[in-house]
Amino acid sequence: MNIRFAALSLLLPFLAVSAASAQAPVLPGQLLYQKNCQRCHGANGKAGLNGAHDLTKSNLNAFGRTYLVTNGMGKMPAFGKTLTPQQVQQVVAYSLTLR
Ligand code: HEC
Repeated sequence: MNIRFAALSLLLPFLAVSAASAQAPVLPGQLLYQKNCQRCHGANGKAGLNGAHDLTKSNLNAFGRTYLVTNGMGKMPAFGKTLTPQQVQQVVAYSLTLR
């Protein structure tokens, strides 16, 4: 089970990227999230490391999150220079799926 699960989680982002062009961007943001957000927010959004907020309890909608991720706030870094607007949109869409 462990090895299968590990293999699956490695595969998923790649599957998601190929599906992204055709479908709503839900999964492509997962890879971006793991790379850019997980170290503070944790895999499930609840970790709250480095003063980060629990994303599962956030009331911010996609518009507010896009602004915050692009421009940063307090200890939250701005990603407007490291991510394209499309990547920001994808990672925000993924963050909205965390419950
Ligand atoms: C260096 C740690 C760090 C990283 C990396 C980080 N964040 Fe944050 N995040 C924070 C902190 C700290 C706050 C609280 C900011 C404040 O209100 O002062 C926050 C707040 C947020 C909020 C607002 C939550 C609320 O209060 O409603 C969202 C949404 C969010 N982050 C999404 C992301 C996303 C998406 C990424 C990756 C692109 C990311 N964060 C990467 C530290 C981080």
